[in-house]
Amino acid sequence: MGMREKSKGGFLLDTMRAVLTPCPYILLLLLLMGESVLLQANIKPSLILMMLDDLGIGDLGCYGNTTLRTTNIDRLAGEGVKLNHHIAAASLCTPSRAAFLTGRYPIRSGIVGDSRPGVFLFNAASGGLPAQEVTFAKIAKQQGYETALIGKWHLGLNCKSSDDHCHHPSVHGFNYFFGIPLTNMRDCQAGHGTVFQIQRYLPYGTMAIVVISAVVLHCSGLIFLRRGLILGLLSVLGVATLLTAGFICIIPYLNCILLRDHSIVEQPFTPENLTQKMTLEAVEFIERNSGKPFLLFLSYLQVHTALFASAAFRGTSSHGIYGDAVQEVDWSVGQILQTLDRLRLRENTLLYLTSDQGAHLEEVSAAGEVHRGYNGIYKAGKSTNWEGGIRVPGILSWLGTIPSGREIDEPTSNMDLFPTVVHLSGGVVPQDRKIDGHNLMDLLQGKAERSNHEFLFHYCNSYLNAVRWHPNNSSSVWKAFYFTPDFYPKDRTTCQHTQVCLCSPDYVTSHNPPLLFDLSTDPSETRPLSPDTEPAFHSVLAAMEQAVEAHQSSVRPVESQLSAGNMMWKPWLQPCCSTIAQLCRCQQYQ
Ligand SMILES: *[C@@H]1O[C@H](CO)[C@@H](O)[C@H](O)[C@H]1NC(C)=O
Repeated sequence: MGMREKSKGGFLLDTMRAVLTPCPYILLLLLLMGESVLLQANIKPSLILMMLDDLGIGDLGCYGNTTLRTTNIDRLAGEGVKLNHHIAAASLCTPSRAAFLTGRYPIRSGIVGDSRPGVFLFNAASGGLPAQEVTFAKIAKQQGYETALIGKWHLGLNCKSSDDHCHHPSVHGFNYFFGIPLTNMRDCQAGHGTVFQIQRYLPYGTMAIVVISAVVLHCSGLIFLRRGLILGLLSVLGVATLLTAGFICIIPYLNCILLRDHSIVEQPFTPENLTQKMTLEAVEFIERNSGKPFLLFLSYLQVHTALFASAAFRGTSSHGIYGDAVQEVDWSVGQILQTLDRLRLRENTLLYLTSDQGAHLEEVSAAGEVHRGYNGIYKAGKSTNWEGGIRVPGILSWLGTIPSGREIDEPTSNMDLFPTVVHLSGGVVPQDRKIDGHNLMDLLQGKAERSNHEFLFHYCNSYLNAVRWHPNNSSSVWKAFYFTPDFYPKDRTTCQHTQVCLCSPDYVTSHNPPLLFDLSTDPSETRPLSPDTEPAFHSVLAAMEQAVEAHQSSVRPVESQLSAGNMMWKPWLQPCCSTIAQLCRCQQYQ
């Protein structure tokens, strides 16, 4: 009896085994059938997106530098794809990052203004990436990813009070945030000067206005200057100067803040070891989440001024503190790769490395030390739409999925990461708005030869500055400028007088017909074409004009987040970790 039951049970088991045994093979087959099945099987890749600040494309060994040591970044490029025509959507931090996160030209999210440089200069500004914008982090989070931003944000903080955090990274899909809500700036390190030019001009400006008007009034007989009046004028001048100087002195307390999630951990932050701290945070985040898909946006503070490097890296490069800072970031990239190797995650992780824009050529310290990067053969730098401002490194690696050791010359954009990440996370891009980036996977895997970017539009703040056209049937890459920045000194490609090139009409030269280049034969933009040298001159410009019209009609008007009102310092929005009497000073990091 017992025997028969057992054999009956055995028969059932055998039958089940016969049915089930092929399952692993079927599964394997399904897996081999492609990544879409992979995604359905819920084996989603992790994503690590690394962005440096102001790094020049010519600073990296893999892009031709022979004197800076970037062995880890070079290894990443060797194990993946190197994009040779990778374009930042803007030549300044705030708009470039907005475009990167949303896959849209910054004009669509209102991250443009029409005067002064288009970046946030205060934590206590009310502008920021609007909550209705959709970032790749938001979508990845909805798809079950653990998400983190470690490093720089620069897309706003508060709207109405000093801690409403309406523009905080957590509003945009980042579960964890360790970093700075604004940007690293000269003011964040003693002895590195200030980015606020007001300090330079205001005292003299005030003095000049007061003195000139007094003299004019006196001479025209309208007033007779008495001693009391002169003293009054002088004291107004003195108070104005003191207030300005005082404000500049407290900038580090106002702007140089380190946050963990919603709490201030350092105010002002101590910069020297920040690359180390961020690396440790990143490694711990990867370790904590090695068992599930994660998205890490590792947004380095370097190599934006004020430059810093920890003691172990100071003096290690042949390019001063700038080179030391680059080499420390390279070390950090190495730590990320080692962590992934150790956890056996390389074949399940897509890595991306880029810079938010080209090197900032105006950055030379007060002592004359070079604090800027190198844009290689490309003209000018950060804050311009010459190639040096927007042609950035683009490295992507995913062992086993993206073939190694390839280079791609087709135009790509940092906005492409949005649809690429959304796709890999298993989500779909929002259908209710225009997305300007294109999924890169087919290009990266060699399944497509051509980029989907036929046209790219280059804005400087809210002004349409230039257009790039890579016609479908040709290898040419045309680029037309409607205006170009006025350089100072004139024989250089920098705007030394304003520290960044500005794009409002007073600071540029307009071109009609537009200034046309063919980047495929003239990547350094040295030879503008004319109807005499280029038979297609007029037809190329006509095609571009049509594309511009179509593009412009797709742009819906939105509130400018970089208007004067949204950029100005508002005392009631100022984050402060202590009482005002204690000067908003806290050193709590451990
Ligand atoms: C390497 O980068 C440094 C720092 O930006 C730059 O000064 C140097 O000219 C570059 N060297 C080469 C060979 O590209």
